[in-house]
Amino acid sequence: MEEFHKVRRLPPYVFEQVNRLKASARAAGADIIDLGMGNPDLPTPQSIVDKLCEVVQDPRTHRYSSSKGIPGLRRAQAAYYARRFGVKLNPETQVVATLGSKEGFANMAQAITAPGDVVLCPNPTYPIHAFGFLMAGGVIRSISVEPDESFFPPLERAVKHSIPKPLALILNYPSNPTAQVATLDFYKDVIAFAKKHDIIVLSDLAYSEIYFDDVPPPSVLEVPGAIDVTVEFTSMSKTFSMPGWRMGFAVGNERLIAALTRVKSYLDYGAFTPIQVAATQALNGDGSDIAEVRNVYKRRRDVMVDSFGKAGFEVPPPPATMFAWAKIPEKFRHLGSLEFSKLLVEKADVAVAPGIGFGEQGDDYVRLALVENEHRIRQAARNIKRFLSTADETMHNVVSLNAHR
Ligand SMILES: Cc1ncc(COP(=O)(O)O)c(C=O)c1O
Repeated sequence: MEEFHKVRRLPPYVFEQVNRLKASARAAGADIIDLGMGNPDLPTPQSIVDKLCEVVQDPRTHRYSSSKGIPGLRRAQAAYYARRFGVKLNPETQVVATLGSKEGFANMAQAITAPGDVVLCPNPTYPIHAFGFLMAGGVIRSISVEPDESFFPPLERAVKHSIPKPLALILNYPSNPTAQVATLDFYKDVIAFAKKHDIIVLSDLAYSEIYFDDVPPPSVLEVPGAIDVTVEFTSMSKTFSMPGWRMGFAVGNERLIAALTRVKSYLDYGAFTPIQVAATQALNGDGSDIAEVRNVYKRRRDVMVDSFGKAGFEVPPPPATMFAWAKIPEKFRHLGSLEFSKLLVEKADVAVAPGIGFGEQGDDYVRLALVENEHRIRQAARNIKRFLSTADETMHNVVSLNAHR
């Protein structure tokens, strides 16, 4: 039987291949250190869990909730934007709660895309940025992920040569997977470009609070007038270590928020009310929980950069996110990122995310997630050191064993 039209547009997840290998190595008794998936390992702060437990006792909260988010939650998100970015939002018309930012992004694509619409998408990037639009019937044109002046010439060409003219432009800074951070000046130029060409800007700011330099990453909505063309997505998953709770937000342009809200009103009844109430409390907190999360990732980052570097695997220090984006050591680069990632599982008991999973431009890299503790990160470095130092003798022509299966 032929694959369904939608399913054909979704190739098997590249990461699944490494996951399978990881699972079989574990089943055979290997202690795999998993730096693959960006799945935060830190517990949600106790005060947020306690609030959920308290609210769930009230049977009134067991009914269907509000699809666009309870009013207090939307007010808390607007207050966060005012406090953190100096951006004023109307919680009634410019804020909608989502079931994680991934759902919000994918349904925004459903809401605004006509078949064949062209969307400008960074490469490499977090897969939903492209696949959200592909599922919605759109067409992707890849653009650079570099947040500097080199970003614009390909963009100009894309606008000139795309038929129809691009509908939307996707931004994701701090970037998953590259960890690059954008400046407000860069955003000013992007907004000027988008306004000139009447292009929607969708900004994924999932890592707004996971940064290690003194200057926090800006919101594109800080650019005066950006709200005319922009929606931005944020997430509670990383900021408050709440990935399983599925809570995020879209904020910005009223027309776009209304379109997303309409689609969502047909699809979901919103997150479980106790989750929404607990999330409200988290957002209204004093920021100490966020600082703690940030510090844990920063210490892990420093341990990784130091220990991997000493092991002979150079890892540039990421200024933000919970990921390092590292070039595959020279002698293995010809293998490509998928085969190299498989080798690391097989020979070093370390799982990483192959860069190709984020787009063709990522194939010289692997992404290392800071989701194991410092001790385990050091252990991963020791394993990699052993692997690198014996690779020459044990694998004269380095070919993954798996390639023969
Ligand atoms: C850039 C980016 N956007 C969105 C998400 C998904 O976040 P959420 O859990 O809010 O759906 C992730 C998760 O890894 C991410 O890296």
